[in-house]
Amino acid sequence: MIKIWLLMLPFYLYATITIHFPIVTKKNTPKTKAALYFAKRVREISKGKMIVKVEIDPKCSDSQMLNILNSSKDIQMLAPTLNKFATYIPKLDFFNIPFLFKNIYEVHALFNPSNYKNILNDFRNNGFILLGVWDNGFTQLTSNKLILSPKDFKNTRVRVYSSKIAVNYMHSHKAIPINFPFYYLYTALEKSLINTQINTISNIYTTKIYTLQKYLIMLDYSYLGYGVVVNSSFWNKLNRIQKSIIKQAFAETTQKERIWTNAYNASMLKKLKEYAKTHSFKIITLSDKQKELFVKDSLNN
Ligand code: SIN
Repeated sequence: MIKIWLLMLPFYLYATITIHFPIVTKKNTPKTKAALYFAKRVREISKGKMIVKVEIDPKCSDSQMLNILNSSKDIQMLAPTLNKFATYIPKLDFFNIPFLFKNIYEVHALFNPSNYKNILNDFRNNGFILLGVWDNGFTQLTSNKLILSPKDFKNTRVRVYSSKIAVNYMHSHKAIPINFPFYYLYTALEKSLINTQINTISNIYTTKIYTLQKYLIMLDYSYLGYGVVVNSSFWNKLNRIQKSIIKQAFAETTQKERIWTNAYNASMLKKLKEYAKTHSFKIITLSDKQKELFVKDSLNN
């Protein structure tokens, strides 16, 4: 008993640890709910010795925050979309390839134990400790133009990520790709800087961008998931117990997050269907043949 107490002693001698964790999504999205739950579990398991402060919807982009994660004392954790890590790990740009994954199981299979080791190393070599991945599901298209085939992208002004693959895809379809941060999405549509964007149902619903669009085209365009990372210099200062508290809280949260993602996307799609009944907003479900056209076109791109 005394031995266990002695082992725990260094942990209890530590001052309270605060982890700042900004989240660019709105309330009631899978990522925000997961971040808040993670914070609650860290506080509970550490008996109040470790505090995760979640800042929701900051007016700052994940890419900017990622750039300063290792040099700033203000942020210790982030959960940007996986494709935003492509600046550091170029191969992660493949998350921008349209129709790459048929379903979520294919994505999860990518993070199998043998691949995962290499992925962890890629993150570590760039100063990030990857705790794991949280899903937000597949993206859909919203537009003021009816897009039923790849050639309908022509002349649309589409919000894209800062990605060679995304930009090339849009250029090859004679569309105009425009990159800006997530927090600017509503304003960019309001000001008609863009007329088309690609996102998950929970992001489309919670940002209210559907109120500025005529069509929601159900395409399952690409996978959107988050790489949840801790700044490595901060991580290296934590002791073994503190690290295991974070890992335990993260594992518990991840299990729940996958369920919340499905539930949020389903319930928000239902709300959008209700909205469509009384507004000039149409939800388009493509036939298998129409969808095949997009998939084939992407393979040839
Ligand atoms: C996010 O879900 O964190 C943002 C997605 C986006 O930038 O479109």
